[in-house]
Amino acid sequence: MNGKNSLQDIIEQDKKTLLHPFTRISEWEASDPLVISGGEGCTLFDSRGNAYLDGTSSLWVNLLGHRNQGIDAAIRAQLDRIAHTTFLGLTHEEGVLLAQELLSIAPAGLSRVFYSDNGSTAVEIALKMAYLLRRSAGKPHRFLSLERSYHGDTLGAVGVGGIPRFHGTFLPLTRESLKAPSPDCFHCPLGLKRETCSIDCADAAIALVRRHRDELSGVILEPRLQAAGGMVLWPEGYLSRLSMEIKSHGIPLILDEVATGFGRTGACFACQLEDVTPDFLCVGKGLTGGYLPLAATLFSEESYLGLKKDPGIFYHGHSYTGNPLAVAAARETLRQLGDTPVLSELPQKRTVFDSFRAALGCIPKIGNIRSIGLVFAFDVFMDTGHTIPAKDSVMYGIQTDAQSRGLIVRPLLNTLYLIPPLSVSRHDLETMCERLLQAVRNQSDIM
Ligand SMILES: Cc1ncc(COP(=O)(O)O)c(C=O)c1O
Repeated sequence: MNGKNSLQDIIEQDKKTLLHPFTRISEWEASDPLVISGGEGCTLFDSRGNAYLDGTSSLWVNLLGHRNQGIDAAIRAQLDRIAHTTFLGLTHEEGVLLAQELLSIAPAGLSRVFYSDNGSTAVEIALKMAYLLRRSAGKPHRFLSLERSYHGDTLGAVGVGGIPRFHGTFLPLTRESLKAPSPDCFHCPLGLKRETCSIDCADAAIALVRRHRDELSGVILEPRLQAAGGMVLWPEGYLSRLSMEIKSHGIPLILDEVATGFGRTGACFACQLEDVTPDFLCVGKGLTGGYLPLAATLFSEESYLGLKKDPGIFYHGHSYTGNPLAVAAARETLRQLGDTPVLSELPQKRTVFDSFRAALGCIPKIGNIRSIGLVFAFDVFMDTGHTIPAKDSVMYGIQTDAQSRGLIVRPLLNTLYLIPPLSVSRHDLETMCERLLQAVRNQSDIM
């Protein structure tokens, strides 16, 4: 704090002047919220001087720790040159270099980059481009996406979203996509076990693609992990099987790696786990290491040439497109991902989850324990048969208990998860698991 306002003043003024995203208003008004005043590595500090491990990487954005010296220095150095200039009709070296660096780590076949400010706009841009290319061909237009998908909160992204609680209210403002079922192994519609899974669930999506192939402008997917939809982990092979079908009809494949990109799932991009190359790749969140808002839509030369031909100009842009400070943070983030062992160390770090999984497995009302890369999730139930999801009050109880032990988590309905920064130390990761386990065990309703 700057010393000008007391903690109580800040909270009071917040409640008088602000509205917080995805936060129930009456609960916020009644709460005594944390006021974050600093961070270091995987730790956040509040203005009372308490420390909290950042179990959500500040909502899946932070990759390499808070106050990362290299990223701090890159932003400061850029500040000495220029903070911002428009990208409309002008360019800058940093923006060109970042585009080259992004393309060098992306799946082969992507050769162009369009910058924007956040994951939702990265998706919006892919949808608009796919639509324009379709329109040029004079064909009908519709997108296909999955139930439980989340692609952001702008209207185009809402149209392809599949979470009724988030998207239902706004659907009248947009065009709803066709929806295929989500390949959620725990709620497998075919009653198969993950161990014996033959990815038959892909058949339903494939059938839909075949039925609507003449009207589809694109299919949009979150490869391998539907994060906001409840950390739905796909069975191996689903992505490649469905992608092959989509591509066999010449339908553009849009992969949204806003949450999964830059190592979260163990590979740099989740689609690389199954050797899938999309026509459009949307990235954001971790791109700047969780420092500044920047996103990018990567696309193919074929799409570029199509847009050049018709309409010849892409009427989409933002005031801060290609912001040099954000670009500097992104370049340093990519440098650290490439030059440090942060990615190669992930398999070894993941072993910390083994004992956590075993301990959770002994709690009868915990189920659907799953993990990929450094993402770990499990569901909480009111019954041992795992049919009744835990009530909001139970989940809130776990969240606040964890917080009181020095761990920030944020449940998604009855799902709890840890998504630490990739740079988390083994010790901090163990501590996150211990604190979350204690918070779960402390909930009498589920023990
Ligand atoms: C897969 C995916 N796409 C898009 C978005 C939207 O990103 P943003 O919140 O930066 O607009 C998110 C955000 O959680 C996401 O998880």
